[in-house]
Amino acid sequence: MTAEIINGNLLAQDLRVDIAARAAKLTEQGVTPGLAVILVGDSAASMVYVMNKEKASKAMGIHSVLERYDADFSETALLERIQALNEDPAIHGILVQLPLPPHIDTHKVIAAIKPEKDVDCFNVINAGLLMTGRPQIRPCTPYGVMKMLESIDYPITGAHAVIVGASNIVGKPMAMMLLQAGATITICNSKTRDLAYHTRLADILIAATGQRNIIKADMIKPGAVVIDVGVERDENGKLWSDVDFPNVKEVAGYISPVPGGVGPMTITMLLVNTIEAAEKKLQEKLQAEK
Ligand code: GUN
Repeated sequence: MTAEIINGNLLAQDLRVDIAARAAKLTEQGVTPGLAVILVGDSAASMVYVMNKEKASKAMGIHSVLERYDADFSETALLERIQALNEDPAIHGILVQLPLPPHIDTHKVIAAIKPEKDVDCFNVINAGLLMTGRPQIRPCTPYGVMKMLESIDYPITGAHAVIVGASNIVGKPMAMMLLQAGATITICNSKTRDLAYHTRLADILIAATGQRNIIKADMIKPGAVVIDVGVERDENGKLWSDVDFPNVKEVAGYISPVPGGVGPMTITMLLVNTIEAAEKKLQEKLQAEK
């Protein structure tokens, strides 16, 4: 059996047609959607991510601002920038690229972003709303994975989803979204005793560890859906991910590749979140004018 590929590039392309149309409509109505991305430090990987986000936003007609600061930028100065962007009516989404340098308190920075502009959905208010089943904004990577599962019409209700990795960015919100959709959830972490025991039970396996090829073919239930979130470029420029793709694809029913899987979907859902934040602002403006 060779798995069907879940093509994130194609899916993202489809979604971006709708995003561009919604951005154009907003602009016509006097609210050009605006996204501010802040990068502190000179990590090459983070630079690539933010450049991709900026390029994709601009291509959709989203007003995009990239603010870059040196690694020694102070926490106070960063909080001041966030405050200014919170008050800026041209900006509907604020994204602070993580990780931040160690002298900056990440939780404090995320908490400073106005919840309605928190297009990453990292703020505790948005995370709490997601957890209690009333999301206002959905976190980009798990949201993109849900769209990938939707694209193959996979029956999530009653399925056993195993998530490997318990980060605040992917693992935990992914679990909440799949739980909300009716799946039974297992979350594995770096201390999990027999990882393969758990992964072999998965109808849906989400790998988000950042550990190269941690998921092997003998850890997969035949026919399972395997979504590879982990991605890393080594010192020679070679791209690695969590899933041993060539072997796992011979056992799985569906599999997402790297590159061309979750990556383009994460960026696409960031654009969706920015558009939705701008649409809410427009609704508020129209309501106020009534
Ligand atoms: N660093 C790695 N992934 C992400 C992401 O989705 N958003 C932000 N802000 N930083 C990240």
